[in-house]
Amino acid sequence: MKFFIDTANIDEIKEAHSMGMVDGVTTNPSLIAKEGRDFEEIIEEICEIVDGPISAEVVSTDTEGMLEEARKLSKIHENIVVKIPMLVNGLKATRKLSEEGIKTNVTLVFSPLQALMAAKAGATYVSPFIGRLDDISQEGLLLVEHIVEIYGNYAFDTEIIVASIRNPLHVLESALMGADIATIPFSVLNKLAAHPLTDKGLKAFLDDWNKAKGAQS
Ligand code: G3P
Repeated sequence: MKFFIDTANIDEIKEAHSMGMVDGVTTNPSLIAKEGRDFEEIIEEICEIVDGPISAEVVSTDTEGMLEEARKLSKIHENIVVKIPMLVNGLKATRKLSEEGIKTNVTLVFSPLQALMAAKAGATYVSPFIGRLDDISQEGLLLVEHIVEIYGNYAFDTEIIVASIRNPLHVLESALMGADIATIPFSVLNKLAAHPLTDKGLKAFLDDWNKAKGAQS
């Protein structure tokens, strides 16, 4: 499973990258706004750190506007993937961009049929938002299961980026289902690495070691 980091924060990206856990990066307008810096400048900086797909989202809602933004973003770096919202206009833009060889990530996907349409339009990636479904008492992981099955039935090349991940179980279950990618917030990434028995075991090892050292001296 590929791990992308879901942030526009350069320090978080650098830290996760140094752990060897960053196969790509996803951003969105809210994550960019949180940084209070110029959009293109942030994206350029991310491209210098990570050699993998970097999602940058358009803010237009009409097809022509999306295409214009997408073409501009794609010129920043060869690793740019243009994030397009799952709208009818977004599907039109996705189809055109796919013909032009520009990679796309269809975002804000909340149903299996939206994911099917995105794949048919030629999306490189599709982003089901599972945490936001859980928030309204719908099962986010069931959406991932359905998309994995549908894409498998018809051998679509579109890769599934599980997004809106809120906890380690979201990552575990997505991996068990065979989702291609999890895009993980930095806080959740650290939780994946942690286990209380690891900490307890290490403490016991070091205590024993220090006791034995003390006895020898
Ligand atoms: O990148 C988009 C997505 O992961 C957003 O997550 O937590 O705002 O629902 P969240």
